[in-house]
Amino acid sequence: MPPMVIGIPKEIKNNEYRVSLTPEHVTALAVTHKVIVQHNAGVGSGFTNQAYEQAGATIVPSIEDVYAQASLIIKVKEPLAEEYSLIQAHHIIFTFFHFAASKELTVSMQQSGATCIAYETIEDESGRLPLLEPMSEVAGRLAGQQGAKYLEKPQGGSGILIGGVTGVPPAKAMILGGGVVGTNAADVLLGMGADVLLFDINEKRLDELNAYFEGKIITVLATNDHIREYLSHVDVVIGAVLVKGAKAPKLISKDMLSLMRPQSVLVDVAVDQGGCFETTRPTTHENPTYIVDGVLHYAVANMPGAVPYTSTKALSRVTFPYLMELASKPLNQLDDNFKKGINTYNGYITNKEVANAFQLLYTPLVNILD
Ligand SMILES: NC(=O)c1ccc[n+]([C@@H]2O[C@H](COP(=O)([O-])OP(=O)(O)OC[C@H]3O[C@@H](n4cnc5c(N)ncnc54)[C@H](O)[C@@H]3O)[C@@H](O)[C@H]2O)c1
Repeated sequence: MPPMVIGIPKEIKNNEYRVSLTPEHVTALAVTHKVIVQHNAGVGSGFTNQAYEQAGATIVPSIEDVYAQASLIIKVKEPLAEEYSLIQAHHIIFTFFHFAASKELTVSMQQSGATCIAYETIEDESGRLPLLEPMSEVAGRLAGQQGAKYLEKPQGGSGILIGGVTGVPPAKAMILGGGVVGTNAADVLLGMGADVLLFDINEKRLDELNAYFEGKIITVLATNDHIREYLSHVDVVIGAVLVKGAKAPKLISKDMLSLMRPQSVLVDVAVDQGGCFETTRPTTHENPTYIVDGVLHYAVANMPGAVPYTSTKALSRVTFPYLMELASKPLNQLDDNFKKGINTYNGYITNKEVANAFQLLYTPLVNILD
């Protein structure tokens, strides 16, 4: 394959300070390929234009320049409406898409004809999601911190100190979903002294969690009856479920909020897949919370963007090997687990869960990629 022109645009989502690649990885990429970086794309993460230039990249003034010159675009978050018209059929866009959360995004990318490769649906040999994992670690840890913070009275919470003090019991935290986000949230909440209840539908996973936490948390099978039963006893709930590629299942309905104590806190990390509480709507770092029926909701869809120093390095580390492969092979020669990331191709939706989320036509990639 001839060398590619690879573009790194500046992220435009609210308070999104991450950038897709560090200068260190650009150095390795620029040996073979031409790398175009938008002016100031890295400053939010602590990387100057000069650092990218020294790494071998060319700095261009605008986002339009990036899309006009590059055929492979590497990003962090899904394109926003103002970016749709920049995306053309010849582009490969490699980023987080979370298509199932937005029909508008799905249809726009399908109509663009571009190849959209979603970090969050690429799998490894064991079925794990290697490019989502580091961001889930960050979001899970942040979720624990945010849960504790928003319980504070001046933040709108009920005023319970997460870890309690001598003679006064700690807060109780319910975590729905015991994957990467849920486990990291549990680690942080446990470390702060909370009582932690972790729910999952996968019994094998509950066994693993019991072993990992050495019995220091309570694990519960995530049935609707169990969630209802415990909801009146907890102060903070972290939503951390995932059904790969699909819209998140709604585990707490609006009527269930009345079971909760006033000013309890819901943190919906699964908001990027549509949210696992019926009352979830996406919020921003600028305006992160809102109240429904006396319960405080936090639902920021780009939580890791708040800690770009950590998140950019963690993301760039895992995406880089995939990017190198993508830039050096035709799509049809990519490994099958990598191909699971291709959600749209040549005007077709090639991810079944995404197509099903909006009753759109699903076309298996093997039928159209020669
Ligand atoms: N808001 C953000 O900034 C942000 C950042 C990173 C990840 N996320 C999101 O967090 C969510 C969780 O990600 P993850 O990496 O932990 O996923 P994961 O696959 O590691 O874990 C998901 C867990 O949910 C469980 N689950 C599925 N359906 C369930 C149900 N009905 N009830 C209870 N448990 C159920 C699964 O068994 C699994 O253990 C995803 O939606 C992901 O996109 C959000």
